[in-house]
Amino acid sequence: MPNTPNDLATATTATSGSKAITEQKILTGDRATGQLHLGHYIGSLKQRVELQHNNQQTILVADMQGLTDNGNNPSKVADNILNVVADYLAVGIDPAKTTICLQSGIPALAELTMYYSNLVSIARLERNPTVKSEIQGKNFGRSIPAGFLSYPISQAADITAFQAQLVPVGDDQLPMLEQTNEIVRKINSLANSQILRECQPLLSNISRLPSPDGKSKMSKSLGNVITLDASDKAISQAVKAMYTDPNHLTIDQPGQVEGNVVFTYLDAFHPDAEYVAQLKEHYQRGGLGDGKTKQILTDCLQTLIAPIRARRQALIADKGYLIEVLKKGTEQAREESQQTLDKVKTAFGLNLI
Ligand code: TRP
Repeated sequence: MPNTPNDLATATTATSGSKAITEQKILTGDRATGQLHLGHYIGSLKQRVELQHNNQQTILVADMQGLTDNGNNPSKVADNILNVVADYLAVGIDPAKTTICLQSGIPALAELTMYYSNLVSIARLERNPTVKSEIQGKNFGRSIPAGFLSYPISQAADITAFQAQLVPVGDDQLPMLEQTNEIVRKINSLANSQILRECQPLLSNISRLPSPDGKSKMSKSLGNVITLDASDKAISQAVKAMYTDPNHLTIDQPGQVEGNVVFTYLDAFHPDAEYVAQLKEHYQRGGLGDGKTKQILTDCLQTLIAPIRARRQALIADKGYLIEVLKKGTEQAREESQQTLDKVKTAFGLNLI
């Protein structure tokens, strides 16, 4: 069980098929600001499908966190809640095994955020490297929404409300987990008892997938994503435009594999690692063209996405079912989080009535 800040430095890396993680309380979430994509799939969704069998897993559709930089454009969040739920179910997250819930439907999360915010300084929030770089990227100037600066506190509420031990996230989320554990220690010290649990990140082997042009991460706002319902044509166009080795001008020439996005994706998605290793060797030796490697990747991604796309299309056509799943999970989550809230209020001595 982690209990020092240094534990985050030794974050668990999940290796699919390796030693199974069992009997853990797991919480993770996604901002509801767009459809999920291949980056989410390989960085987290695939892992969640495996984890749900032997653990107690909760997945939060973070609509309130989505509002923290969309206060003036809330439909971007409202319109995407069911998209995210459809993505979850389409990849194989099973609502009978995983609690899928909606952040705005769980009042205890907002209440916990208010209590925790008295234990976190503005300076500490401004030091969070992820928030810092997001603030720069969004050009807020001096008009940073208070909710945005403090979203790590709300994320701490999400994690602790469910007493999560493991949080499967990308490496950009490590600062949030560090802040969460700082809050946990403060609350436990106030309570003089371990009422909250510290959490540990669970990083996937591939925690960040580059965009097809290789210049940045895959991101909806940058418009360079392959969604989980991409058509065969969209997949093949995205792969055709992928960055390879600019110095690999003829098929006969040796090519470079490092930084070659086609190989990064083959490593991430091709089921046969040995075959990919052979391809790399052939490419480095010379004699393997980019047209061929791109065709192999196109086939691989089309095969992966076709069944997900079909399930997703059926799900999105049945909104009533998606709402039902979300309602049921949210009710369950409400009860669980209320228990944590009661303990935290008691730690502050606010249990008079
Ligand atoms: N910050 C996460 C993201 O941007 C979403 C999120 C909200 C989350 N609450 C969480 C992730 C709790 C893990 C745990 O994707």
